[in-house]
Amino acid sequence: MKVIFHGHACFEIVSAAGNIIIDPFLRHNPQAKLTPDDFEELDAILISHGHSDHLGDAIELAQKTGALIVSNFEIGCYAEKFGVRVHHMHIGGKYTFPFGTVKLTPAFHGSGIPDNDGNMLYGGLACGFIINTEGKILYHAGDTGLFGDMELLGKLFDIDLAMLPIGDNYVMGPDDAIIATQMLRPKAVIPMHYNTFPVIQQDAIEFINILEKKAPVSKGILLQPGQVYEFS
Ligand code: NI
Ligand code: MN
Repeated sequence: MKVIFHGHACFEIVSAAGNIIIDPFLRHNPQAKLTPDDFEELDAILISHGHSDHLGDAIELAQKTGALIVSNFEIGCYAEKFGVRVHHMHIGGKYTFPFGTVKLTPAFHGSGIPDNDGNMLYGGLACGFIINTEGKILYHAGDTGLFGDMELLGKLFDIDLAMLPIGDNYVMGPDDAIIATQMLRPKAVIPMHYNTFPVIQQDAIEFINILEKKAPVSKGILLQPGQVYEFS
């Protein structure tokens, strides 16, 4: 299984079970090396919340590839208006798709959908994802502040890989992401949601170094946009 980082919070998971993309912010993502034009085969598009750096190019990608949009009920209803395939879910619920099982987890964040007229559409609640595919358990936290129930997620799931925001300002900063890692106890952590914009500039190498000391059970993995983490 390959986990490809496209910058910000966008990850692609490629395996024999299927191709999934999470939070496909590509065209306006200064870190992304690809655009929706580069994607041919996608089975599912997971959207953590309605903000434009996460909803991103989801509609265009779904229209182009026929991929199934998986998100909360409110974003699902928004997406349906564009004639794409949608599977609605909500926090605490899980569903088994051909490519694996997805469970929506809480995230402390907004989920409004800004439209082109300067209005904010209601986008429900922001979420994260526990994804079980090809026998691996992945946790994408979405945009969130630190919350104590990460401890519960760590108890309930033997997480192989956690994707955690470290950018601060809108989401957890590095210090809180270390505490999150201690609670989640994943085998590996990839930091995300940093350096895309000046306000979320972070030293990810420093984060990995501190992680090594304070959360030694979890291996820190630094991916540059376009780089791949491969499960052996
Ligand atoms: Ni956000
Ligand atoms: Mn964001």
